[in-house]
Amino acid sequence: MKEKLEQIRAAAAEQLNAVGADLEAIRIRFLGKKGELTAVLRGMGQLSSEERPVIGQLANEVREYIERLIAEKTESQKREALENKLKSERLDVTMPGRAPELGCRHPLEQVRRELEDLFVGMGFSIVDGPEVEYDYYNFQALNIPENHPARDTQDTFYITDNILLRSQTSSVQVRVMEQQKPPIRVISPGRVYRSDAVDASHSPMFHQLEGLVVERGITMGDLKGTLETFAKAMFGESTQIRFRPHHFPFTEPSAEVDVSCFACGGKGCKLCKGEGWLEILGAGMVHPNVLRGCDIDPDEYSGFAFGMGIERVTMIKYGIDDMRYLYENDIRFLSQF
Ligand code: DAH
Repeated sequence: MKEKLEQIRAAAAEQLNAVGADLEAIRIRFLGKKGELTAVLRGMGQLSSEERPVIGQLANEVREYIERLIAEKTESQKREALENKLKSERLDVTMPGRAPELGCRHPLEQVRRELEDLFVGMGFSIVDGPEVEYDYYNFQALNIPENHPARDTQDTFYITDNILLRSQTSSVQVRVMEQQKPPIRVISPGRVYRSDAVDASHSPMFHQLEGLVVERGITMGDLKGTLETFAKAMFGESTQIRFRPHHFPFTEPSAEVDVSCFACGGKGCKLCKGEGWLEILGAGMVHPNVLRGCDIDPDEYSGFAFGMGIERVTMIKYGIDDMRYLYENDIRFLSQF
């Protein structure tokens, strides 16, 4: 029996010392209810009373020995596992990082901000107006009654009979004049909507910037001076402006305003299609009916207004020949600005 116990001790030690030993399986094999050592202890009943304490003591020693070895191995396996984990999860802080890609503002946003800075510099304040608008502000109060042919040139998205998506930022003129009395000097940039099919120069949503000045003694000269300052700042010092007679229901007189082509200096080129001039905005002196409708006496006050397409200004400024680029969010296009 003594030999058997020594054998068990040696076998257990050998198995426990093996690399990657399954400690639990070994414990069960030797110390479990049906284990080898347990079997020896069960047989002790057959021993003589002299032998019993000797073998009993040795059996206890062997059990303690195996238990201690299992505890040691458990510890060292845990330590090893932790070391492996630390090694595999180690972070190399000296590795060069991945630099975040820096974006840029959308060209339309850049131009809008540039326009805002420019007009704020001339003493204008910036106002906002709703994109979902009453027919009254978009048309009627701008001297465009129902069935007026001017409505046909602005294909409008109607929500109800008298609510629509504004087709022009001119609606803000009326909202401002209802709220504020002269002197008024505001610009209002924002989205407008027209039921147009998408092509190189049309989009059902685009951006305009409206300007309005109302005060005693405002003349067409003030309008020209303001627009000339704007044109030179936007397109270069040598830029000229030209007024062509036009008709807008809410201004009288009305004009379409061109800037001399900055690409060719007016000689005619691809950008200006040989004209030497680029059409840039609509403008005029605020119609007396519009002033009167907002409770401003046209005999005391006069004003000018203008409206430009921000897409158009952007496309001219950067020589973009297709409006769709501005909405496609292609990084290869946008990162050029
Ligand atoms: N609202 C006009 C349009 O969308 C542009 C315009 C023309 C605005 C003349 C004005 C103006 O303020 O005076 O076509």
